[in-house]
Amino acid sequence: MPSVEERIRELSAQIRYHNHRYHVLNDPEISDHQYDLLFRELLELEALHPELIASDSPTQRVGAPPQEELGKVEHPYPMTSLGNAFSADELRDWLTRAQRLLPEGMPLAFVVEPKIDGLAVALTYEDGRLLRGATRGDGHIGEDVTLNLRTVSTVPLRIPVSGSETPPSRIEVRGEVYIPRDQFEALNRRLEAEGAKTFANPRNAAAGSLRQLDANITAARPLSLFAYAIGYVAGAQIGSQWGALDYLRRMGFPVNRDIARFEDFEQVIAYCLEWMSRRDSLNYEADGVVIKIDDFAVQKRLGIVGNAPRWAVAFKFPAREETTRLLDVGANVGRTGVITPYAILEPVDIGGVTVRQASLHNYEDIARKGIKIGDMVVVKRAGDVIPQVVKPVESMRTGAERDVVLPTHCPICGESVVKPEGEVAAHCVNAACPARLVRQVEYFASRGAMDIEGFGSRLAEIFVERGLLHDVADFYYLQRDAILNTEGFDVTRTDNLLASIAASKNRPLWRLIAALGIGNVGGTVAQLVSKEYRSLDRLMAATQEELQQLEGIGPTIAASIADFFGRPRHREIIAKLKHAGVRTEEEVVQPTGAALPLTGKTFVITGTLPSLSRDQAKALIEQFGGKVTGSVSAKTDYLLMGASPGSKQEKALKLGVPILSEDDLHHLIGEEPGAGAPAPAQPTLL
Ligand code: IVH
Repeated sequence: MPSVEERIRELSAQIRYHNHRYHVLNDPEISDHQYDLLFRELLELEALHPELIASDSPTQRVGAPPQEELGKVEHPYPMTSLGNAFSADELRDWLTRAQRLLPEGMPLAFVVEPKIDGLAVALTYEDGRLLRGATRGDGHIGEDVTLNLRTVSTVPLRIPVSGSETPPSRIEVRGEVYIPRDQFEALNRRLEAEGAKTFANPRNAAAGSLRQLDANITAARPLSLFAYAIGYVAGAQIGSQWGALDYLRRMGFPVNRDIARFEDFEQVIAYCLEWMSRRDSLNYEADGVVIKIDDFAVQKRLGIVGNAPRWAVAFKFPAREETTRLLDVGANVGRTGVITPYAILEPVDIGGVTVRQASLHNYEDIARKGIKIGDMVVVKRAGDVIPQVVKPVESMRTGAERDVVLPTHCPICGESVVKPEGEVAAHCVNAACPARLVRQVEYFASRGAMDIEGFGSRLAEIFVERGLLHDVADFYYLQRDAILNTEGFDVTRTDNLLASIAASKNRPLWRLIAALGIGNVGGTVAQLVSKEYRSLDRLMAATQEELQQLEGIGPTIAASIADFFGRPRHREIIAKLKHAGVRTEEEVVQPTGAALPLTGKTFVITGTLPSLSRDQAKALIEQFGGKVTGSVSAKTDYLLMGASPGSKQEKALKLGVPILSEDDLHHLIGEEPGAGAPAPAQPTLL
């Protein structure tokens, strides 16, 4: 039996190790539950023996009382900023300037790193223990945020996190604290639900979260770290940036995987341009790429001028945000009649594109953000996304700004606009509002729905305006002459359009379901219900309760589908579609469910199966009429379990869900299992 002290040390080391695997390497070895057990054991031992609690124990990340103010920290070596380059030519100029100070023809290597848009910090460790964490501040003096940084799960409290390498006697690690993009969205949704102020971007969220006086607030924020440099080190020999990153990784710091080293500068440029076009695919906000000359001896020779080193440069991506004036607010009517406000802006260049209009989401959002007509506003444009108004710049107000008001009448048909209590969206009450019809028709023909080639938003407007389409079924009753008489249509174009419309009659059922424009039903849900009901008639006959039984269909969607098909007007349109010969059945008619051995059975798969991959097992189950879902619940019929199962096993045991081996599965579907131990005649019901 180890002594309590030994056990505490052992548990701490294990928890540190698994924490690193989970948060830094994204490759956990044990289940969350097993991790919790270790953590709980440590907590219990420490509660019994408070004198044995180490300051760097994994239990000591949170719990510090709020501070009065953040202390000041002087950086022993300044945290510099970086010079910028905005084009490949400016990058080449930077290199030329550096090379002028170096022996001619000296070979150089470059480390190229995404420039994370967060908050720079310096972490000081003494004999492997985190001593202090500070923000960059003005580069000379920063703020002491040690307690807050301790709550960040990717910040090691002790190094090396695992292994037996001797830690340096003293090291200052520099890096960027940031919030992953997906977590940022979730954080803002949470803040919104709490009625708190949301953050405009991940960078503000990271800064706001780290500079809290109460570390418990910081602990609840999804902060993460990328280490990218060593400020200074004593007790280790490191000669290059690439070597430093490798060292940091070995010590257990999170180092960005998207970092590369090149000896050819043209490859550096290619890498920068590649990231510029791929920045939206990253799960962190990057505002550029940092290029560093690898060799520390060369860095030293080049030195610093002013506030920026000569040996590094930032290649900046085009801006995503600009400020401009909100001239007015217009209103659009969507296909369900929802009135959506949009911003009319003083034209502004954002990252090379002139932006004149931007989304304003809805009227509640305008009120929450306090946006007024005449305001200077921050406008964001990211990738293909429609530009959005983020917030007003309140300090630039003149007093002449006006409130945005919800229109009382539809801007298209003039009928009243209603906004039911408790709902976010305002509607035009007129079901026959031409704006709605235009959107419905456009949506019906769009690529994600019936895919009628050559029929876009402009034609939708013209065809509705000319009275050629009164509902979506009218597509299939269009007269050739009527189209020919429409401006811009000659014989060829008319016949092409008619051919595309005719071709759309035979689309898979899910496309028709999606095309109908049922609220909350997009392509994914349409595919789901189409697979389940296989005919529009059967889907129309389904009750809300039945629909709700389907995995992936909640009460809102179920109610929306049932409501849609309950309306006589919609039934009429469907009858018209059928009459025109539009396919309303799934093509392949499967043998009736009862013949299949797994019909109606829901499976969950966990662990490594002896011969089938997960995908193969799933395909096999589905082939025999069963269904595979992701998590064990009371609705699960069987847990198919292989080696090293996760927490799903515990859940299944708790709920009394039978556990099957791969062999059991083969038996269940009447196939002979492969060679191996004879399988039981009945599945093992645990
Ligand atoms: S190196 C000379 N590397 O960019 C070295 N900085 O303008 C200076 N940043 O305040 C820092 N990612 O917050 C470096 N991979 C990276 C970086 C990075 C983001 C930020 C850092 C600094 C600013 C420099």
